[in-house]
Amino acid sequence: MTRYSEIKQSLLLQPKTWLITGVAGFIGSNLLETLLKLNQSVVGLDNFSTGHQKNLDEVKALVTPEQWSNFQFIEGDIRDMEACRNAMTHLSLGDDTTSKKRRVDYVLHQAALGSVPRSINDPTTTNDVNISGFLNILIAARDAEVKSFTYAASSSTYGSHEALPKKEDIIGSPLSPYAVTKYVNELYADVFFKTYNFNSIGLRYFNVFGKRQDPDGAYAAVIPKWTAEMIRGGKIEINGDGDTSRDFCFIANAVQANLLAATNTLEESFNNVYNVAYGGRTSLNQLFSIIQATLKGNGVHYSPPPIYKDFRPGDVRHSQADISKAKTLLGYMPENDITSGIELAMPWYIKSLNRKK
Ligand SMILES: NC(=O)c1ccc[n+]([C@@H]2O[C@H](COP(=O)([O-])OP(=O)(O)OC[C@H]3O[C@@H](n4cnc5c(N)ncnc54)[C@H](O)[C@@H]3O)[C@@H](O)[C@H]2O)c1
Repeated sequence: MTRYSEIKQSLLLQPKTWLITGVAGFIGSNLLETLLKLNQSVVGLDNFSTGHQKNLDEVKALVTPEQWSNFQFIEGDIRDMEACRNAMTHLSLGDDTTSKKRRVDYVLHQAALGSVPRSINDPTTTNDVNISGFLNILIAARDAEVKSFTYAASSSTYGSHEALPKKEDIIGSPLSPYAVTKYVNELYADVFFKTYNFNSIGLRYFNVFGKRQDPDGAYAAVIPKWTAEMIRGGKIEINGDGDTSRDFCFIANAVQANLLAATNTLEESFNNVYNVAYGGRTSLNQLFSIIQATLKGNGVHYSPPPIYKDFRPGDVRHSQADISKAKTLLGYMPENDITSGIELAMPWYIKSLNRKK
């Protein structure tokens, strides 16, 4: 039995209370779906800046009414300290049917403004949300004495460091304002351990993809953006020569890493950052072919070749993770590679994009 299966079993037997910030977003709503299906109680905080009500509606449709009643949503901003403090408690009905406030056990902090280009266009807002907002949540979690604090870090922290595969201890300098913010999160988490003995775990996500990742808008990630363009019969533009590569990570692997990190009790694994990826490397040219072939298998034919454009500022050239640290210390065992992940996500894209027409 894997550690992940053991954890899911024990959560089912002894449900816990979780806070997911950024719950209406891509990763947040997938965490919500998994936790509610495990009969957990969840508080969700989001200001809908890049997340959507429809993501929450979709989760509601995938769980039982009883599981959905374990979810409390707070529309609020992590830049607002009061909202962060409120989110650390869950209102539940006591045996005498009066409502009782219970502190959340585990925090999964996902809320942030993603996207390197967004941060280049508007570094101030990215800084406010990703650094000041992060600090608010960290302080609120420390003061509420939660059992664990897990946060979304980023592979962008490797920045100018070129060697592959990326190991957690060796980073370069940041190449974008976004990367600065994610690195500062790690520095704050480390300092909170040194100064307040507050434990945390940072998960450096590498290009996560899957259902409910937004295909629209100027800052859409490459997989949903290309999939949508192909389904709609639009143009695919590749920034650079197409050899740029990434370690694409299917959402189920990222969800697994969060549950492992949050429930982890191994002391030596606290106050660390971990790569969360599959451990493979796929070029943009290969990605184009994988999406095209998967769509074909689902009855959608797309034949125009991609259009090559200039390289985009702030983008790292190649990325591939060494995931041995997460395997050893957290028991992480990613289940889906890029091809199987895209196959699993594709029906959702076809259905949700057809619904929009
Ligand atoms: N998706 C990836 O490949 C990837 C890679 C590296 C790191 N990350 C990090 O993972 C986290 C989740 O990313 P995602 O892909 O799900 O993005 P997303 O944009 O889908 O989700 C982010 C959520 O945070 C919410 N949010 C933003 N600002 C907020 C604020 N001020 N107050 C409250 N809520 C706010 C948004 O409305 C959204 O629902 C982010 O921290 C991101 O930086 C993601």
